[in-house]
Amino acid sequence: MIRGVSIGDAASVDPAVSIRGLHVRRGRHEVFSGLDLEIPRGEITGLLGPSGCGKTTLMRAIVGVQKISAGEVRVWGEPAGSRMLRHRVAYDTQAASVYGDLTVRQNLAYMARVVGAPRGDVDRVTDQVGLRDHLSQTIASLSGGQENRVSLAIAMLGAPELLVLDEPTVGLDPVLRADLWRVFRDLADAGATLLVSSHVMDEALRCDRLLLMRSGRIIADTDPERLLTDTGTTDPDAAFLSLIENDEERHPPTRRALRSDGAS
Ligand SMILES: Nc1ncnc2c1ncn2[C@@H]1O[C@H](COP(=O)(O)OP(=O)(O)OP(=O)(O)O)[C@@H](O)[C@H]1O
Ligand SMILES: [Mg+2]
Repeated sequence: MIRGVSIGDAASVDPAVSIRGLHVRRGRHEVFSGLDLEIPRGEITGLLGPSGCGKTTLMRAIVGVQKISAGEVRVWGEPAGSRMLRHRVAYDTQAASVYGDLTVRQNLAYMARVVGAPRGDVDRVTDQVGLRDHLSQTIASLSGGQENRVSLAIAMLGAPELLVLDEPTVGLDPVLRADLWRVFRDLADAGATLLVSSHVMDEALRCDRLLLMRSGRIIADTDPERLLTDTGTTDPDAAFLSLIENDEERHPPTRRALRSDGAS
């Protein structure tokens, strides 16, 4: 059961995340210069875009670990990263955040205590990510995909109302990916809000809403059905490419953007 989330028409309630005029500079690169965005409650929002376009930076801003130079990021009405949000927001980073010399169970048991998750949660999340048979293995002995799933399981401990998942299914086979997307759907059905980044276009079709980003701008705010009808295709890869190419015509990449935002 997800705490404190009312299930209902997402449009009729305040958004989970509200971003106004966000400016972020990383190194010499201006990643966002005035980004506005809302993420509705109780839905799965997919975040897609070429490598380097700003997906991870946006997620970091939402969980409150990204230094911002201007603008406002609010989660459930509170400033991102504020104390009150600590147990309500979970973040699965792009690189697994786990202790390599501890076992899967030790990692999960430790993090369960940190987030105040109830007993039994370790087994629940282990089953959800399909790692029951690996509980006593050290992280260092796992495959890359298994290690990433431990990190995802940690994000699902307790009852976070907002889950920010940065490429949670990378490196996984289609069967495992489908299993995990069923788990994401169950979480959303129970009232949680999910923001999931991905490079895999068939995953885009599993989202309620799709944000397509290029060079720090949202170039499409749509849903799977509209993505395909608006681009006149049945293939999500082709739809994605068509939107990117249209945007490239209107906003040609600069030499520096070409180096740091390669269309991969
Ligand atoms: N620590 C850093 N220092 C300087 N620049 C950075 C840093 N981290 C990211 N950047 C730059 O910020 C921009 C956005 O990076 P970000 O990691 O948000 O992209 P992304 O969309 O998540 O890419 P990917 O799909 O490869 O994960 C890129 O141009 C990147 O080079
Ligand atoms: Mg990233």
